[in-house]
Amino acid sequence: MNKLALLIAWSFASGSYAYAAGDVAAGKVAFNKCASCHHVGPSARGGFGPQLNGIFGRPAAATKDYNYSTAMKNSGIVWSDKNLAAFIRSPNDVVPGTKMRFWGIGDEKQIADLLAYLHTFQ
Ligand code: HEC
Repeated sequence: MNKLALLIAWSFASGSYAYAAGDVAAGKVAFNKCASCHHVGPSARGGFGPQLNGIFGRPAAATKDYNYSTAMKNSGIVWSDKNLAAFIRSPNDVVPGTKMRFWGIGDEKQIADLLAYLHTFQ
């Protein structure tokens, strides 16, 4: 590949979403923190929390087999890298009154990894 093609390929890959730097394999491990409540993959369904397939671009409280809190239903959020990162950091700050009881993750790298992993279930 010549330099220009390399540059174009690089900017395409890194521009596709903000957290492209995330590591999918590490994100899979980090997802263990979510997996007690959330499912992903072909057989995912609502459990303690809603399933998270195709979460990016999905409006909050959109899955049919899960009973969301009023706070989540009324949040008006459409999940993106940015607001999902903020939600993982501190759920109650993004959706006050959410019933997701999660202390949050402060490590930016781990959040980026998690988002990269979730992007594989589009
Ligand atoms: C203790 C259980 C629990 C854990 C752990 C947990 N969640 Fe949740 N999550 C929930 C519940 C319950 C809801 C529904 C919240 C509501 O209706 O207010 C939710 C909602 C969500 C939503 C909104 C989904 C939608 O359809 O709008 C996302 C996104 C999400 N969680 C991501 C995560 C991620 C990523 C992790 C791991 C970092 C995580 N959660 C960890 C219980 C959990």
